[in-house]
Amino acid sequence: MRRLADQALRPSNEDGTCRTLRRPHGRVEPHGSPPLPRAPHPVLGRYYAGSRGRAPFVDWLFDATAPRYELVCRLLSFGSGAWYRRSALRRAGLAEGMTLLDIGAGTGLVARAALDILRRSGSVIGLDPSAGMLREARKALAVPLVQGRGEHLPFRDDRFHMLTIAYALRHLPDLRGAFAECLRVLKPGGSLLVLEISRPSGAVRRWLLRSYLRRILPLIATVQEGRGEVGLLTRYYWDTIEHCVSAPTIVKCLELAGFARVEHRLYGGCISEYVGVKPAARMRPRRRATRSRRRVSSSGAPG
Ligand SMILES: C[S@@+](CC[C@H](N)C(=O)[O-])C[C@H]1O[C@@H](n2cnc3c(N)ncnc32)[C@H](O)[C@@H]1O
Repeated sequence: MRRLADQALRPSNEDGTCRTLRRPHGRVEPHGSPPLPRAPHPVLGRYYAGSRGRAPFVDWLFDATAPRYELVCRLLSFGSGAWYRRSALRRAGLAEGMTLLDIGAGTGLVARAALDILRRSGSVIGLDPSAGMLREARKALAVPLVQGRGEHLPFRDDRFHMLTIAYALRHLPDLRGAFAECLRVLKPGGSLLVLEISRPSGAVRRWLLRSYLRRILPLIATVQEGRGEVGLLTRYYWDTIEHCVSAPTIVKCLELAGFARVEHRLYGGCISEYVGVKPAARMRPRRRATRSRRRVSSSGAPG
């Protein structure tokens, strides 16, 4: 399945975009539909040079800010982060007895919220490329934490009931590659939940979020925690939000990767939830039934 999805989504142009896309099940996208980008946002030259510089910069940034990451989250969500993550997991169908992989786990905020629901420590695994973030996560979490990337998940096929990517989608270098990997490790019928901050469409909301992330938050964090890279983190946040591909593009990428029943919900103009389901495996025709049908028709029944 992975090979199919990879072939289907291989970029046809040098810049990594596709003009004609073939769905895994053979449907061809109409010519002239806008090209789908591989990365969630273009290269941000203010922070790193070229697409190869993206991952090293992002790893360095999260390593450097890991000890202050939860403070930034509290300030950004006005303290509602744990409650919101828990309710989003419930809305997506997380229930006791399931296994969950949290991609881009950071300091483990989603994993902790999931544990409140699942109650069994073996049921949650966190994955993140940043050693600094994982170090912080280990302080408060007793679940397996794996250093790795969303584009290459070190797990077997059909392993998890649910996957989460919370506020990490903007940092993935290859959306379609990551979604293909997600589909591979999900059990048939399992779901992927993506939480993100989207660029507000209204000018006033956009101005408020930009000012908060670029000016106010770095100031508060500096007063509370002293100088550090927090200002750089929140400025980078805003730039990745501002330049991120649109919600319909993310939905399209999920569908092209093979997800079914893809939904996007927007709260407060900028809190996005995407859910997609891995289609259940197709049923094999049962031999006995075929034989008995043959027997019926050979006895002269109509049809
Ligand atoms: C903003 S934090 C989100 C942490 C956590 N999910 C939460 O809800 O607070 C983004 C995380 O994505 C991770 N990340 C960056 N690139 C990644 C990649 N290619 N694959 C998986 N995670 C990645 C970063 O190291 C960072 O820990």
